Amino acid sequence: MSIITNLTRMWLTRSVKPFTFKNEYDEQLPFADCENLGLYVHIPFCKSICNFCPYCKVGYSKELCNRYIDSLLKEIHLVGNQYPGKKKVTSLYFGGGTPALAADRIGEIIDALNEHFIITEGIGLELHPENVTEEVLAVLKAAGVTKVSIGIQSFRNKYQSILGRKTVDTHAMKKALDAVRFETVSMDFIFALPEQTYDDLKSDIDEAFSLGANHVAIYPFIDFTFTASPVKTMPKKEKRELLDSITRYCMSKGYSRNSIWTFSSEPEANYSSMTRDNFLGFGCSATTLLRNQFKINTFDIASYCERIGRETLATSLTIRFTKRQRMIYWLFWTAYSTKVNAKDFERFFGVPLKKMYGFELWAAKRLRFVTEENGMYAMTLKGAFYYHYYENFYTLSYIDKMWGIMRKEAFPDMLEL
Ligand SMILES: C[S@@+](CC[C@H](N)C(=O)[O-])C[C@H]1O[C@@H](n2cnc3c(N)ncnc32)[C@H](O)[C@@H]1O
Ligand code: SF4
Repeated sequence: MSIITNLTRMWLTRSVKPFTFKNEYDEQLPFADCENLGLYVHIPFCKSICNFCPYCKVGYSKELCNRYIDSLLKEIHLVGNQYPGKKKVTSLYFGGGTPALAADRIGEIIDALNEHFIITEGIGLELHPENVTEEVLAVLKAAGVTKVSIGIQSFRNKYQSILGRKTVDTHAMKKALDAVRFETVSMDFIFALPEQTYDDLKSDIDEAFSLGANHVAIYPFIDFTFTASPVKTMPKKEKRELLDSITRYCMSKGYSRNSIWTFSSEPEANYSSMTRDNFLGFGCSATTLLRNQFKINTFDIASYCERIGRETLATSLTIRFTKRQRMIYWLFWTAYSTKVNAKDFERFFGVPLKKMYGFELWAAKRLRFVTEENGMYAMTLKGAFYYHYYENFYTLSYIDKMWGIMRKEAFPDMLEL
């Protein structure tokens, strides 16, 4: 597996140099002149821990959560004060863990960010189905949240029990979503679970839209090495058939595909914290990407609070991308939206896309992974499947390795991927 990703990396970056992360960082962050800058805040608490979940999270305790949020507010001011005035940013996303467990303090976090940033494209927040009550939604809406994403995983009892999740109370969920409206209501599903059929997935999607969602995310199940999930992954051929048939179904219903995993029933509905050119991340495990530097905060809550308490950033590792590495990172995440505009690439890097990756684009067209019209490359169904497939390798070779180490060591010396 890592042979494929290593060879692909060497080919695309035209170098044998691995992605090298070091235990160092700039105290002064160069975000002042970064365009298309997004914000991300991580809240790592959950009421119960799901055995398949790889994210940085711990069991919820009110006291620990409050202590963590006090540090988060300090980190926001520590970074925000580096910019005189208010910096324009695109969106703000709260991820976790289960950020809605801190619903009563989300307003304070947004107010702190509003002191330093002007958020122009809305605020998104992840919810566990149990958080979808009229009271919690009203508190979040009053705080400024405009988009919510609910982690359903599956409405089918069989898969809820395989994943160790409780039955979703769809009646209560619909009532709450009808009472408190958001621009985007997204629901997350996991696909490629054992023996999952097209009908299982289709009925999940139909149910999501009938409960008030206008956006769905269908994530392929990934079996991380460090999680204790007994769930096995689906074989490649079945996975492809399932992905193709569910994509065709969504298209036939007139839903638009706004990213490799997401479909929306209304054009303005969107939910994605991934496709931004630059972003600032706050909280443990949050990542920051500013031009060619990418850094990741410690996963350890105590170390995070201790560092911030000393008015020092809680960065654990930093990579300074070479030009080609940055290009690949950009292309990978831009392709996630299923479209790559050569003009955007040239605006960002100052060189034509064809000059840097002319052969790869030609091959991708020949293999019918993409079509091209006036420099706009659009992924085909086949291309989307292979993106999915490659993304799985990438996740298991890079993310799995990195997170596997970072959840054990607060500040590793170095990491090569
Ligand atoms: C941080 S979690 C969601 C928020 C909330 N805590 C919840 O569980 O409902 C983000 C999403 O990642 C997806 N996810 C988690 N573990 C996964 C795995 N092993 N493979 C694929 N998707 C996964 C789930 O769909 C989940 O809703
Ligand atoms: S899936 Fe959601 S609730 Fe479950 S452990 Fe992960 S973040 Fe927490």
